[in-house]
Amino acid sequence: MFSQVWYRLIFLGLLTSRNVVSAQRQRQWHTDATYINTPSSTAADPYVRWDSNTSLYYAYSTEGADDGWFFGLYTSPDLATWTKLPGGAIKNETASKLWADDWYWAPECYLNENTGWYFLFYAGRMTNQTNVARYFKYPDFEEASKIGVAVSRSPSGPFINIEASPIDYYPFDPDYHDVNLIMSPPYLVPPSTLEEGETAPLGSFIPGIDPDIYFGDDEDEGMFLFFSRNAYRNWVWDPKYNKYIEESNIYGVRLNGAWWNDADAKTLPAVHSDFKDVNKGKLANWTSAVNDSFPAGPERMDGWVSVISRTLQPQIWEDAHVFDYAASNGTLKDRRWSEGSTTIKRTDSDGISIYFLTYSANNYESPDYGVGYAYAPSPLGPYAKSNSNPILSQDASRNIYSTGHGSIVAVPSSSTGSGKEEFYYPHHARPSPDDDRYLYISRLFVDPDQLYVAFGPDTGDLRLPSGSAPFDMQVARTTTTTTNGSDSNYLVTVKNRYGVELDLENAANRVRVLVNGTEVANGTSDISLDGVENGSQVTFRYQRARFNASEPWLDVKQFQGLAGETWVEVNITHEGS
Ligand SMILES: *[C@@H]1O[C@H](CO)[C@@H](O)[C@H](O)[C@H]1NC(C)=O
Ligand SMILES: *[C@@H]1O[C@H](CO)[C@@H](O)[C@H](O)[C@H]1NC(C)=O
Ligand SMILES: *[C@@H]1O[C@H](CO)[C@@H](O)[C@H](O)[C@H]1NC(C)=O
Ligand SMILES: *[C@@H]1O[C@H](CO)[C@@H](O)[C@H](O)[C@H]1NC(C)=O
Ligand SMILES: *[C@@H]1O[C@H](CO)[C@@H](O)[C@H](O)[C@H]1NC(C)=O
Ligand SMILES: *[C@@H]1O[C@H](CO)[C@@H](O)[C@H](O)[C@H]1NC(C)=O
Ligand SMILES: *[C@@H]1O[C@H](CO)[C@@H](O)[C@H](O)[C@H]1NC(C)=O
Ligand SMILES: *[C@@H]1O[C@H](CO)[C@@H](O)[C@H](O)[C@H]1NC(C)=O
Ligand SMILES: *[C@@H]1O[C@H](CO)[C@@H](O)[C@H](O)[C@H]1NC(C)=O
Ligand SMILES: *[C@@H]1O[C@H](CO)[C@@H](O)[C@H](O)[C@H]1NC(C)=O
Ligand SMILES: *[C@@H]1O[C@H](CO)[C@@H](O)[C@H](O)[C@H]1NC(C)=O
Ligand SMILES: *[C@@H]1O[C@H](CO)[C@@H](O)[C@H](O)[C@H]1NC(C)=O
Repeated sequence: MFSQVWYRLIFLGLLTSRNVVSAQRQRQWHTDATYINTPSSTAADPYVRWDSNTSLYYAYSTEGADDGWFFGLYTSPDLATWTKLPGGAIKNETASKLWADDWYWAPECYLNENTGWYFLFYAGRMTNQTNVARYFKYPDFEEASKIGVAVSRSPSGPFINIEASPIDYYPFDPDYHDVNLIMSPPYLVPPSTLEEGETAPLGSFIPGIDPDIYFGDDEDEGMFLFFSRNAYRNWVWDPKYNKYIEESNIYGVRLNGAWWNDADAKTLPAVHSDFKDVNKGKLANWTSAVNDSFPAGPERMDGWVSVISRTLQPQIWEDAHVFDYAASNGTLKDRRWSEGSTTIKRTDSDGISIYFLTYSANNYESPDYGVGYAYAPSPLGPYAKSNSNPILSQDASRNIYSTGHGSIVAVPSSSTGSGKEEFYYPHHARPSPDDDRYLYISRLFVDPDQLYVAFGPDTGDLRLPSGSAPFDMQVARTTTTTTNGSDSNYLVTVKNRYGVELDLENAANRVRVLVNGTEVANGTSDISLDGVENGSQVTFRYQRARFNASEPWLDVKQFQGLAGETWVEVNITHEGS
C-alpha cells in the first residue's frame, strides 16, 4: 500500500503542468443544479455566443433594447440566468452611421479573434425613397430590407456601422415576374392565375432579412451569408393550392474575406466574385432607374442560391398560413415563411462533412411558428429537409407557443471538435399565444451519422449546461451595529468555474441560511440575521429554483468525477451576542 502511494507521488512529480491539466480534466466537475425556462427576459430572434474573453454568454435580440437603442443585450454566466445590459447594441444617433429607417431585426454577433473586432450583422428597412430606389429601382418598393454590419471592440457594444450603407450585395432575381407591379396597395390580392402573374415585368431586386454567417474552416471552404428573402416581394405560384402565396425563402451566397481580415474593420462585407454581377445582362431591356425623379438605380445584379423553399421541397407543416386571406376576411395575406436560419457543419464517422441548417417556418405572430432542419453535403446545398420536421413546435401541455428563430451555441467546456459538443438552441417562445416573446434555452442534439437533429426537453427542471461547476461561495460580514448590537449583515457571492459571479438577485437563485443546522432565513446576496447567539454556526447554502411546486428550491450539490459530493456552502461562526 505504501509503495503505491509513493509511486503515485513520484509519478505526479514527473508530470508537466500540461499533463496535470489533462489529468484534472479526467475528473470533471459536475453539479446537480437545474434551471427552468421561465418567461423572464424579453427576447425575439435571439442569437447567443460564448465570449471567452469575459467568460459570459451574450444574447442579442430584436426586442429588449432601451428607448433610443436597437437590439436588446443580455449576459449570462450559465446560459440559464440572464441579466439585461442597459441600452442596447446600436444607439439611435448620427455617430452610429445609420442607414436603415426601421425594422431593425435579428442581430447576430461574431468575434474575429485575430483582430479583436466584434461584428454585428442585422437586417434593417429603408423607407427613404431615394435610398430605396438606389437599392431596389422602385422608390415605392414594398418593404426594402437590407443587411447591415456594425462593429465594436466589446461584445456589449456600442456597435457602429462600418459605413452608412448596407453590405455590398445586390441580389437580383431575373426570373421573377414582379407581381407587385400589377397589384395595388396594400398588396393583399395577387393575380388569380399563373398566366396573369406572368404578364408582370421580369426581374426584381431581393430584399433580405435574418442574416447568419457560416464560417468555413479555411479560405478553400469559404464564408457564406445565409438570409431570408423578405416575403413582401416574393409571390410564388403554388401548383398544389392553385394560387399565388407570398413566400419567404432561405438563400445563401459566398462572401469574400476582406472585411473579416481588415485589422481596422473598415471594410464592408461584400459578395464573393463568383456571385458578383452574375445576373447582369440577363434582362436585355432592364433599366436601373424607374423614373426621372429617382435616376439613381442599382447597377449591380448579384447572384444567390435558393437553399430552402417550397419549390425545392414542400413540407405540409409549413402551410399553416396559406389560407389566411380567407380566414382573416381579407385582412391578411396567404403566406408561407421560412426564415431565421443557422448553419453548422459536423463530420460523420467516415470523416464526411455534413451541413445542418435549422430554420423557422410559419408566421412568428402565430402559435404555429416552429423549427425544422435540413442537411446538405456542401454549404450551399442541395439541402434535404428532414422528415421529422417540425422538430420544435407549440405544445399547450407545456404552455409553450410560437417556438422559433434561435441560434446554435456550444458549451465552451465541452470537448470542441470531438463530435461531443454540448449544443444548445436559445430561441424565443411565448408562454401563451398572446404573450410577448421570451428567451428560452433548449438542449440540441446533432448526430451526423444519423443525419439527426433533435431537441431535449424545454420545460420542467432542466439540467444546467455543463461548465458552471465548481461553484465557489464566499461570505463577508458587513456588520451593522445597532442599538442592541445584535443585527448582522452578510454579503454572499457565488462564482462559477470561470470566477464569474452568479446574479443572486435572479429569481432562479437563492441563499438558504441555517443556524446550528436549522433553517432560519433565505434571501439573495444581502442576508440579514437578527438575534443569533454568539458562537452559533451559521451555514450559507446556494439553492436554485425548481419547477416542482412541492419542492420549489433545491440545495445545489457539486462533485468532481463521481465522488466528493458537497453542498455549495460556507460555514462561519457567528460572533456577537
Ligand atoms: C431614431 O431617432 C430619431 C430622432 O429622435 C427618430 O425620429 C426615429 O424615429 C428613431 N428611429 C427609430 C427606428 O426608432
Ligand atoms: C479582452 O478583454 C480585455 C480587458 O477587458 C481587453 O483589453 C481586450 O481587448 C479584450 N479582447 C478582445 C478580443 O475583445
Ligand atoms: C433621404 O436620403 C437622401 C440621400 O441619402 C437625403 O438627401 C434625404 O435628405 C433623405 N430624406 C429624408 C426624408 O430623410
Ligand atoms: C423585357 O423583354 C422581355 C423579352 O426579352 C419581355 O418579355 C418583357 O416584357 C420586357 N419587359 C419590359 C418591362 O419591357
Ligand atoms: C416616379 O416615382 C414616383 C414615386 O413612386 C411617382 O409618384 C411618379 O409618378 C413617378 N413618375 C413617373 C413619370 O413614373
Ligand atoms: C369573418 O367574417 C365572418 C362573417 O362575418 C365572422 O363570423 C368571422 O368572425 C370573421 N373572422 C374574422 C377573423 O374577423
Ligand atoms: C424562505 O423564503 C420563503 C419565501 O421565499 C418564506 O416563505 C420562508 O418562510 C422562508 N424560510 C425561512 C426559514 O425563512
Ligand atoms: C435589535 O434592534 C433592532 C432595531 O434596531 C430591532 O429591529 C430588533 O428586533 C432588535 N433585536 C433584538 C434581538 O432585540
Ligand atoms: C448553536 O450552538 C452553539 C454551540 O453549541 C451555542 O452556543 C449556540 O447558543 C447555539 N445557537 C442557537 C441559536 O441555538
Ligand atoms: C416533486 O417533488 C416531490 C417531493 O420530492 C416528488 O415526490 C415528485 O416526484 C416531484 N415531481 C416532479 C415532477 O419532479
Ligand atoms: C459545514 O458544517 C457542516 C456541519 O458542521 C459540515 O458537515 C460541513 O462539511 C461544513 N461545510 C463546509 C464547507 O465546511
Ligand atoms: C463571542 O464569543 C467569543 C468567543 O467565542 C468571545 O471572544 C466574544 O467576546 C463573544 N462576543 C460577545 C459579544 O459576547
